[in-house]
Amino acid sequence: MTGIVVLGSTNMDLVAYVAHAPKRGETVTGRAFSTIPGGKGANQAVAAARAGGDVAMIGAVGTDEFGAPLRHTLVASGVDIDLLRTAEGPSGTAHIVVDDEGGNAIVVVPGANGTVTALTPGDETLIATADALLLQLELPLSAVIDGARAAHRHGVRTVLTPAPAQPLPPELLAVTDLLVPNEHEATALTGAADPHAAAKALLRQVPEVVITLGAAGSLHARRGAEPVIVPAPRVTAVDTTGAGDTFVGTLAVALGEGRPVEAALHWAATAAALCVQRPGASTSMPYRPEIDEAS
Ligand code: ATP
Ligand code: RIB
Repeated sequence: MTGIVVLGSTNMDLVAYVAHAPKRGETVTGRAFSTIPGGKGANQAVAAARAGGDVAMIGAVGTDEFGAPLRHTLVASGVDIDLLRTAEGPSGTAHIVVDDEGGNAIVVVPGANGTVTALTPGDETLIATADALLLQLELPLSAVIDGARAAHRHGVRTVLTPAPAQPLPPELLAVTDLLVPNEHEATALTGAADPHAAAKALLRQVPEVVITLGAAGSLHARRGAEPVIVPAPRVTAVDTTGAGDTFVGTLAVALGEGRPVEAALHWAATAAALCVQRPGASTSMPYRPEIDEAS
């Protein structure tokens, strides 16, 4: 039995570190450059596996030079990649600028991720064995809907990170158990700038929501319960890339272990706070002993 299945993207992150991100027409000189395995799907898989989850990943890498290191990072973190396809052509890439305040701007070019348009019968068999299916929006929407519906059919909890932000079709919301947008995505989905108002609006469409609020922590809301804000540890962020993915992957593990939701959110916030203090996505994600020690 696989506890957590991730249906999502793998990207090689091409990261430039700069004092401030260039405006349109501007050229700035960067301090450093790194290639770091990332992608929202792979990040959530890595975070969940390092947090102690039994994790498998469905997605695709390309036949270019990035395919092997993307696979390697997943395997080295303990993620089962038997159903990770290889598609002829380039892997997904994310072109990231990280500024001196730890903020980022990202352009994602889907590459191989764009070839994952539907589930195979083997994908559905794997999903059927899981406790939870983690989904994001860096694969074609058809595959995301297919995956969520398959999970729903088999009574598997679906956790959707609606990023990059885009309108969500009703058929996807109908099979989403837990929605985890950041503040900007929550506003984009509802038009409400206040997270409490956004959560209230989202609860009309899904039964449970966690809105991540960056350094301010997260807001948990469930139908029929009082919303709760869970604070984040106070730390100095050097690079927030992958913080949301670390939060979701770790949260899924804690919920799968049956922890009460507030305790699970604290544990996820501890993991994400460790992540923001180090550069990169997969490179910054903590292992379980470190999370336990910090929490
Ligand atoms: P990402 O930068 O990965 O896109 P995101 O925008 O999806 O992140 P955020 O709400 O910014 O999501 O952050 C996710 C979680 O990470 C927060 O709920 C919080 O627990 C943690 N986090 C983010 N920034 C900080 C910070 N500066 N200090 C402490 N924790 C943070
Ligand atoms: O959520 C962070 C991720 O978003 C990065 O690793 C990058 O690949 C982009 O997809």
